[in-house]
Amino acid sequence: MNESVLKTIGVAFSVCLVCSLIVSISAVSLRDLQNENKLNDRRIKVLEVADIKIETDQTIAEQFSKLEQKFVDFDTGQLMDEYKNFKIDDYDPIIATKDKNLSSKVPQSDDIAIIKNRENVGKIFILRDDKGNIDKLILPIRGYGLWGTLFGYIAIEGDFNTVSGITYYEHKETPGLGAEVDNEDWRKSWIGKKIYQGDEVTLSVIKGKVSNDDPSKLYKIDGLSGATITGRGVTNMISYWFGNSGYGKLLEELDYES
Ligand SMILES: Cc1cc2nc3c(=O)[nH]c(=O)nc-3n(C[C@H](O)[C@H](O)[C@H](O)COP(=O)(O)O)c2cc1C
Repeated sequence: MNESVLKTIGVAFSVCLVCSLIVSISAVSLRDLQNENKLNDRRIKVLEVADIKIETDQTIAEQFSKLEQKFVDFDTGQLMDEYKNFKIDDYDPIIATKDKNLSSKVPQSDDIAIIKNRENVGKIFILRDDKGNIDKLILPIRGYGLWGTLFGYIAIEGDFNTVSGITYYEHKETPGLGAEVDNEDWRKSWIGKKIYQGDEVTLSVIKGKVSNDDPSKLYKIDGLSGATITGRGVTNMISYWFGNSGYGKLLEELDYES
């Protein structure tokens, strides 16, 4: 009797051991592939928001090379090719927010998007025209909605004010409500909208529909029905990232140079 109990435990233990070994080995050996897929998913989002048609006969990395990647120092608004020892491809600003040496706590009075920590140096993507002028900038944005932080990209034109696209690659909002930030028609409604009126970040998601007769319609986006809080989160992240603590200084510099 005892022997059979011991045997049963022994067999169960061996099975567990073998299974956990298989799981660990697969997890370790698939990690690189998973990381590459995750990187490619982000790159596809960046290409989409830049309105670059994705060709099936080229790798994502090849197509992504149409875009220039730059570091941006948020405090000075300067673009940089180098930052510490980071290779730009490997630099992840979100990971940087977890490192005290690479990020700063956002003062509560400034933290309208509830991001808590902001990386000292961001990473942006530039699409140039044939003459080498900036055609589009693709800027990472993030901010709190109702259930968590929404992470995405916004594309703006070379006037550094007109939106040419928006997309989110990660969020926790409710399907059919806040998750309608992924709705294609809603995302398209951003195209052509203006961010700044003078020096003020004015673009916002309103409650309800933008009226065609509204003289400020270029600065307004239709609300998502039943998702006022998510909409407010999107407005707040636009205000934060286009303000002085976000890309404000960079855009001022670029505008001055052009
Ligand atoms: C289960 C559940 C999920 C919800 N998800 C969202 C959401 O993702 N985003 C959001 O803004 N509101 C969401 N709401 C609604 C909010 O609680 C709030 O009522 C809403 O934002 C108000 O928007 P309205 O004024 O457009 O109705 C959810 C409500 C419930 C009960």
